[in-house]
Amino acid sequence: MPPIEIKKNIHWVGAVDWNIRNFHGYSTEKGTTYNNFLIMDEKVALFDTVKKPFRSEMLHNVRRIVDPVKIDYLIVNHVEMDHSGSVPEVVEAVKPEKIFCSAKGKEAMIEHFHREDWPYEVVESGDEISLGTRTVTFLETRMLHWPDSMFSYIKEERLLISSDAFGQHWATTERFDDEVDSPELFRHAAKYFANILLPYSALIQKLIATVTDMGLEIDMIACDHGLLWRKNAGKIIEAYDRWSRQEPTKKALIIYDTMWHSTETMAKAIADGLQQTGVSAKLMNLECTHRSDVLTELLDARAMIVGSSTLNNGMLPAVSDILTYIKGLRPKNKIGAAFGSYGWSGEAVKLITKSLEDMKVEVVDPGVRVKYVPDHEGLRPCVELGKKIGAAINESVPG
Ligand code: FEO
Repeated sequence: MPPIEIKKNIHWVGAVDWNIRNFHGYSTEKGTTYNNFLIMDEKVALFDTVKKPFRSEMLHNVRRIVDPVKIDYLIVNHVEMDHSGSVPEVVEAVKPEKIFCSAKGKEAMIEHFHREDWPYEVVESGDEISLGTRTVTFLETRMLHWPDSMFSYIKEERLLISSDAFGQHWATTERFDDEVDSPELFRHAAKYFANILLPYSALIQKLIATVTDMGLEIDMIACDHGLLWRKNAGKIIEAYDRWSRQEPTKKALIIYDTMWHSTETMAKAIADGLQQTGVSAKLMNLECTHRSDVLTELLDARAMIVGSSTLNNGMLPAVSDILTYIKGLRPKNKIGAAFGSYGWSGEAVKLITKSLEDMKVEVVDPGVRVKYVPDHEGLRPCVELGKKIGAAINESVPG
């Protein structure tokens, strides 16, 4: 894909990855992009690189604008390999006068590339460098997404180069938010937030407060993945504020796997009970729902009701997988309970309940078990569980 001038003499020179489908367990069903940016000024600066297999594409894009040896500065906002993987080739081609990064960035660069001799220049929040007519202000954003992460803000352009923040995994030939379907764009952004940034919600709240206090004027956010925000920069910041508050809506997820459909029948009865209380319920069968899509739905749900048949004195592997995944992402403000069918031992409900407690989900019921196949009477406790959780949601969620 050719370079695109995103502002006068500022160019996107990245790469589109149409084929990636798995990003560390996140289902990138529509691919992604690795965005990096070239600013042509008295000093020429390249902001980040791209994943290693795309290095030639990226350098080709750079060469369409400038001979790489004319680049003075390389700015490394983030050392994760989807952005730094081409740094060795870029350093070789560019021979930069300086490589700007955070202190943690320098450590991580050395630990990735084992080159202490590169011309690092460590910067911290508030530091500025002049490119001539433009100024780059750095803002450290530790843990968004790694300890080394930082933003670069160009005040003369009201441009925030935001590294991973505000990204989406979506491969397109379009580069701006106003060129694509907006609901789909926000769905990808929510999925990205839920699966990558959710554990750092408290830091995001602080960051939004800092950006507000600094009075940064932003009319374009150039993120490192997906579409850049020029029409909806304010809206995506508002969405990050809302998502990072983790304020739930009147919604419950019923997340389950089932062996011979008994647990599935229970799931439907629980949904029936929830529906009777006016709460929105979503059934998420793990055989056909990817874990990262469960997280997207969990972002604004109040309840997670998790079900599994008992298998070999434990739970089904897909249920174990989703509980491990959710635990790592540390969602807040959730209530929950477990359910499942069994044949003789029936440990799954107890194990799921323990897992919910371990991740600080408020367990509102000891859970429901059914032996083998539930009949009409056997489903009554499931309907009651749905009603109980629905009532708890209605009590705790305003509106
Ligand atoms: Fe897109 Fe944390 O890397």
